[in-house]
Amino acid sequence: MYKPGFLTDKTVLVTGGGSGLGLAMAMSFAEYGAQVYICGRTESKLQKAVIEIKESGGKCGYKVCDVKDYEAVGQMIREIENETGSLNVLVNNAAGNFLSASEDLSPNAFKSVVDIVLHGTFNCTQHFGKLMIEKDRAATVLNIVTTYTETGSAFVMPSACAKAGVYAMTNSLAYEWAEYNIRLNSIAPGPFPTEGAWTRLMPDPEMEKGYKKLIPMGRYGEHEELANLAIFLISDLSSYITGECVTIDGGERLKSGQFNFVTQAAPRPMLKQFFSMMKSSGKKS
Ligand code: HXC
Repeated sequence: MYKPGFLTDKTVLVTGGGSGLGLAMAMSFAEYGAQVYICGRTESKLQKAVIEIKESGGKCGYKVCDVKDYEAVGQMIREIENETGSLNVLVNNAAGNFLSASEDLSPNAFKSVVDIVLHGTFNCTQHFGKLMIEKDRAATVLNIVTTYTETGSAFVMPSACAKAGVYAMTNSLAYEWAEYNIRLNSIAPGPFPTEGAWTRLMPDPEMEKGYKKLIPMGRYGEHEELANLAIFLISDLSSYITGECVTIDGGERLKSGQFNFVTQAAPRPMLKQFFSMMKSSGKKS
């Protein structure tokens, strides 16, 4: 897909990089020569992920860090900089989410999601940005948001609020930090199954079957497809792109089109036959 080794000038921190989409992105960055750090709360998960990346020939380290903790994040960023002297990419991927009726949420349930997603992204981005400004270093931040940042979504209201905040943060800083040569973009992934997201958000096979029908491309995304987009956005191929949010969802976000339901009404050849009948009967009248 890309030239081998074309990320060798990148030192990347991926938050929540021990599993799921974070790990998929970290693996791909390393595959193209980036020096990668992953962070998360569970050391055993991070250790396993680092072994996997190293076995594929990548350069990777890990830091145990909870992104909710402002001071700990600052220390992690300083440590990575001390170890490499070249940190220049941050991918804010760590997230928390679950399905719940909003009237049943405890204040702490709302807070726990917002703390990870919005405060966590602020903590990492501000520490990273300060360092890049101090070092006068060109840098990139990539934030993982969702397709419901603008619309909101039933039953994941805390996540929708937090991700909308991250979206606003991305665009605010894209303008403010352009002067420092720091680019900030976001990706809004649609359905990319991961164990973490699917056990929390898609617990029932019937629910999953119904969900798949809403995706015009009729399939879920492959982790590699997301990773390819992330590579583009952290690389110099996108050097003039900042404050952009790229949706990658097989067309799912377009589901509100008024006549989209017709696609499901009958098999396509039958529909086309019906349309031609309508056309010829229209000509006669
Ligand atoms: C209602 C819940 C709940 C649930 C937890 N809580 N799960 N409330 N329904 N299913 C409440 C708890 O009762 C508690 O409130 C509060 O939330 C904090 O819970 P803890 O378990 O103590 O918190 P913590 O260990 O910090 O865990 C945070 C978490 C957890 C968000 C609750 O799910 C987590 O760690 N998630 C990380 C991984 C993850 O979520 N991955 C999916 C991301 S996918 P009380 O009042 O009892 O103290 C994603 C993309 C979406 O975001 C797009 C998909 C298509």
